[in-house]
Amino acid sequence: VPKTAAMNLTIFRTVTDLRAATNPWRQQGHKIAVVPTMGALHAGHLSLVQAARAQADRVIVTLFVNPKQFNNADDLAAYPRTEASDVAQLAPLGVDILYAPTETEMYPPGFASSICVSGISEGLCGAHRPGHFNGVATIVAKLFLQTGADMAFFGEKDFQQVAVVRRMVMDLNIPIDVRTVPIVREADGLAMSSRNIRLSAAERAIAPTLAATLIKTAAHIASGTPIAPVLATAKTALLAAGFREIDYLECRSDTDLQPLKQYDRPARLLVAAWLGNTRLIDTVAIQ
Ligand code: PAF
Repeated sequence: VPKTAAMNLTIFRTVTDLRAATNPWRQQGHKIAVVPTMGALHAGHLSLVQAARAQADRVIVTLFVNPKQFNNADDLAAYPRTEASDVAQLAPLGVDILYAPTETEMYPPGFASSICVSGISEGLCGAHRPGHFNGVATIVAKLFLQTGADMAFFGEKDFQQVAVVRRMVMDLNIPIDVRTVPIVREADGLAMSSRNIRLSAAERAIAPTLAATLIKTAAHIASGTPIAPVLATAKTALLAAGFREIDYLECRSDTDLQPLKQYDRPARLLVAAWLGNTRLIDTVAIQ
């Protein structure tokens, strides 16, 4: 088993090896956290790992670029794969295991199952990325079962993803506690994302407009301005700033992501918009 020098991070590629290492932890009563990732780690991921390290006895980070959640072959091909630098970032944080299985390990020949979490996975990203949340739910369920973790850490940026995972965990009685960590932003407000490195210099200069527009729009809604015209103004502003297309910009209930016509309960804005060929998502709570 490869070990990095002077660190206790071990890399596993198979579920058999993973279980052999984690079974004794469970027997000793250790609380295990899993942080599911697709690699290309940035400060947002590291904040999940730090939260996991603080709240659990053992930390497993998973790294698997899951083909089943990509509805676009070009997006899958262009997804950054940076395992060596991911390992270098994880080792000093006290991660015990990096579980980086191969595609055949996760989807052996004959693999035929898919988890569909209806309702919450429809609309927003679900409406624009057919099959995406089935792919997410299926791989996350596998990772939960393979790691046998007691708790799992996800970023709030993928707000709908977290809602889908929570619903699945409830529906399937998976014994895991889903915990979230706030979005980590660049100094100019851009939400950290593995896709940000794909932005050209000109696009990177425009990108912070997304968060700025959300914050401004949230403030208008909080102060009582009707939702529909404020959202229309915000979309116009994003297109004027240089965004090519807006998949959605919506105000939804904070608890169950139901669409809101008026601000009469805890709410949040969620957006997905294209800058050139890069799709960015963001979300802010209305306070
Ligand atoms: O958020 C992600 O990076 C992925 O959707 C996840 C949860 C690792 C599943 O592949």
